[in-house]
Amino acid sequence: MHLLKLYTSYTTITLYILLGFCYFCKASDPCSNDTIQNLCWQQETCEECLQIHECCHYCYDEVYPIGRRRCNTMNNLFDCNADKLERNFQSGVDIEQNDEYTDKIQIRPQNVKVRLRYMEPENVTFSYKPAKNYALDLYYLGDLSVSMKDNLETLKKIGKQLTESLTNLTKNYRLAYGSFLDKTAMPFYFTDAQRYENPCLNSEYNCETGYLFKHKLDFTPDMGKFIQKVSDSKTTANIDDLDGALDAILQILVCGKQVGWNPDTRKIIVLATDSLLHTAGDGLLAGAVRKPTEECLLDENGEHRRPLIYDYPDIGQIHDLLRNRKVNIIFAVKNPEKLKYYNRLRKELLRDFAFSGELVADEHIIDLIEKGYHNFARQVNFFANLTEHPHIDIKFFGDCEGIGFNETNLCYNVENNEINFKVQITLIERPAKIGANNSWDTIFIEEKNIQERIEVSLEYEKPCECENYIKPDNTICENGGTFVCGYCNCPQGWKGDTCELRCETEDDYDSCRQLKDGHVSTICHMQ
Ligand SMILES: *[C@@H]1O[C@H](CO)[C@@H](O)[C@H](O)[C@H]1NC(C)=O
Ligand SMILES: *[C@@H]1O[C@H](CO)[C@@H](O)[C@H](O)[C@H]1NC(C)=O
Ligand SMILES: *[C@@H]1O[C@H](CO)[C@@H](O)[C@H](O)[C@H]1NC(C)=O
Ligand SMILES: *[C@@H]1O[C@H](CO)[C@@H](O)[C@H](O)[C@H]1NC(C)=O
Ligand SMILES: *[C@@H]1O[C@H](CO)[C@@H](O)[C@H](O)[C@H]1NC(C)=O
Ligand SMILES: *[C@@H]1O[C@H](CO)[C@@H](O)[C@H](O)[C@H]1NC(C)=O
Repeated sequence: MHLLKLYTSYTTITLYILLGFCYFCKASDPCSNDTIQNLCWQQETCEECLQIHECCHYCYDEVYPIGRRRCNTMNNLFDCNADKLERNFQSGVDIEQNDEYTDKIQIRPQNVKVRLRYMEPENVTFSYKPAKNYALDLYYLGDLSVSMKDNLETLKKIGKQLTESLTNLTKNYRLAYGSFLDKTAMPFYFTDAQRYENPCLNSEYNCETGYLFKHKLDFTPDMGKFIQKVSDSKTTANIDDLDGALDAILQILVCGKQVGWNPDTRKIIVLATDSLLHTAGDGLLAGAVRKPTEECLLDENGEHRRPLIYDYPDIGQIHDLLRNRKVNIIFAVKNPEKLKYYNRLRKELLRDFAFSGELVADEHIIDLIEKGYHNFARQVNFFANLTEHPHIDIKFFGDCEGIGFNETNLCYNVENNEINFKVQITLIERPAKIGANNSWDTIFIEEKNIQERIEVSLEYEKPCECENYIKPDNTICENGGTFVCGYCNCPQGWKGDTCELRCETEDDYDSCRQLKDGHVSTICHMQ
């Protein structure tokens, strides 16, 4: 009786210990799971083994006991020689750089490494917080046709107000200035000698000779200098009701170095105008036929060198440049009828890269700059250019309201709060098929209007390395078989664990020659 009791309690204790141990090992190792174990066991080749589940590893040790499963969970491979163990690739995310927010840093983290298995998505979490004093580069592009004379006069007087208003937006602002008219040839401009010189001849105005575009002031934080340059500008005149603003915008966009755009800034061009735009094709009338390139055509004085060689740009070209250079544009339009044209241009062609509003009175320009700035700053929009990474699929999730993630890459009404995003990255092609450097890659998560981006290095699952390791003096396989990944790869005509059996029938031959992914199957001996 006593003995039985003792025995029972002993068993109970043992059971508790075992259960406790098992509970512990299950909690700490998600791979100790019968379903997964069976899955590993069913795999024959190293490649199948590593692909089926990240818990499966492969032992290709030649002394590994025959009959033991080479594909197994790690805790069952304890006696495999560590040098002959093909460890599976673990997917996951490592944060490599995660600097704090500053006036320059609005996105965290800045650099992550993602290890990806085929068709197993990984989420990377990141956050955006608008900096109070993020740098602003504002290019003021003046229309100097006579009809905009008042605007020029106003601009000379509103320096103080403009300073206050910009300081309200960000303490780190810089201004640049340039002015434009049109191509100086018929039918856009006068060609008789006198009127070429002074296009406002016989009027009350004394005008400057016309020009297409002059860049007059590089980016500077000095408002005084800006007002000075504006005050120095003289009006001029052209013939038709359209002008060469697109040529000016093109140069401002492609002459980044000359103009002095800084990389880590929000970039905005302000165009105050009362005319419409000449676009691609119009140049033909003046013999300017070449399609404009992305070459900067400004000379050392900031003047356009080839006004009559290149045609006007088309809106599509301007759109692509705004997108690539991450520049936004504000159209401040004096005439309500013409505003309709600019509104349509924005909605249909330039979309989120542009803002348009009516310049009711000339002082109103400050208001439009503020409105335009907020319009751009209050949206955040992430994307990744996967043109060169067709094997990657991504999905964005944003928690715009702070109440949960929705599938979106875009949040509106951004205030000064931090917004969390997730990007789900999936490898949709087997690494072996990707080509080039097939185990390593880099993509960038970018914001649409600012230069900041997250560098994402991608590492992909690798093929079995044991396939490259062919034991030189192999004494295991007979009849010229090679020992690969723990199996004898038999030459044509032989089969068996050690290629000891001659193939007899046609069926035998077929199975021995069976090809898989381009190489002779290592399971030839199984038949
Ligand atoms: C084992 O893994 C399978 C597949 O991953 C899963 O469905 C199952 O819930 C797991 N079982 C346990 C006990 O964890
Ligand atoms: C990534 O996050 C989104 C949003 O929370 C979720 O729906 C999705 O299932 C996650 N993907 C993975 C692989 O965890
Ligand atoms: C600056 O911003 C404050 C609050 O946002 C506003 O009350 C004030 O009028 C602004 N000042 C200027 C000059 O825009
Ligand atoms: C994506 O990259 C390709 C080439 O790398 C480029 O031609 C294309 O303009 C880019 N697209 C966007 C939307 O940035
Ligand atoms: C997700 O989007 C749906 C439809 O647009 C909306 O009704 C829901 O409130 C959103 N959920 C969150 C958490 O933002
Ligand atoms: C190839 O990948 C390795 C990492 O595995 C990396 O160090 C190397 O720079 C990559 N080479 C190229 C050309 O991308």
